[in-house]
Amino acid sequence: MERAKRKLDHIQYALQTGQLGLTGFDDISFVHQSLPGIALEQVNLATKMGELQLSSPIFINAMTGGGGKTTEEINRDLAIVAKETNIAMAVGSQMSAIRDARQLASYAIVRKENPKGIIIGNVGVEATVEQALRACDMLEADALQLHLNVIQELTMPEGDRDFSKSLANIEEISKRLHVPVIVKEVGFGMSKETVAQLASVGVSIVDVGGFGGTNFAKIENERRTKVLNYFNDWGIPTAASIVEAVSLSKDLFVIASGGVQTSLDIVKSMALGANSVGLAGYFLKVYKEQGVCGLITEITNLQEELTYMMTALGAATIEELQQVKLVISGKTYHWLTQRGVD
Ligand code: FNR
Repeated sequence: MERAKRKLDHIQYALQTGQLGLTGFDDISFVHQSLPGIALEQVNLATKMGELQLSSPIFINAMTGGGGKTTEEINRDLAIVAKETNIAMAVGSQMSAIRDARQLASYAIVRKENPKGIIIGNVGVEATVEQALRACDMLEADALQLHLNVIQELTMPEGDRDFSKSLANIEEISKRLHVPVIVKEVGFGMSKETVAQLASVGVSIVDVGGFGGTNFAKIENERRTKVLNYFNDWGIPTAASIVEAVSLSKDLFVIASGGVQTSLDIVKSMALGANSVGLAGYFLKVYKEQGVCGLITEITNLQEELTYMMTALGAATIEELQQVKLVISGKTYHWLTQRGVD
């Protein structure tokens, strides 16, 4: 029951704490080209996440499940939105349903509502191979996210304290699964060193889950009296983290996430080299304020806005968008210069 309460707290505090707005996207500028040389109708938003073909780079990132009727309703509604807009969706950590069969319904509903859609499972990197396989079966998942959340765990009194086996575990799970594995952060960003370690054990899809949006240190600190404030500002801002990850290898599939809220953030993410872009906290907020129809409209508008900006940039495909010229200023410029990535 403690776990179920935590799920509901996370939703409430994520909405309350909101998005920090410190992603670094403000430091990224496009170089306007007056002769883009393409027509709007040529723009194609199709992209790839490993071997998965996506008709849009936008997807609903992992949020919930396992909190009884409330999370079941949210997951049902998000699944309807994903189906109607034809975008992929990840569910929140399935550990609760793996440990307690009464929580299964809040995840199973996602596949029931969207039988043909791309649905991504989610467990922590501490999961066993057996648990990872069960998470996939539960949803007939097309891919599985393994989340890394050192800071969140340390901030929780009941959280994990031993991270020594995470990489070996990721390797083991990646070898045994028949669907693509995505390793993701949850709002603290990934460094090029982390991405290199992941690549060395065969991971080919990473979600940088950068700093600057939903902040789980703050959320956990809000939930209790003994606070670890020094983690509130901890992490690699999303824009810098995308470049760190992309700098490693062109063969990696990089997912941008962490504080993405606008079509401009999405276009900038891909211009920095990401292949797709996940939104969690912002979509939750729109859903809570405007319901299923409001979120469908928002996603439809975002997709349309992408096509307009891609036209202005002369990028007919996501691959072309990844090559456009950018000017990087401010804190992000300093970060990337010191880190030797550009
Ligand atoms: C999350 N996130 C998350 N991630 C994960 O891998 N497993 C999970 O169970 C959850 N749970 C969860 C609940 C809620 C309410 C929110 C808002 C988020 C993290 C999420 O997928 C994402 O990595 C971060 O929230 C950063 O992205 P945004 O929210 O800034 O777009």
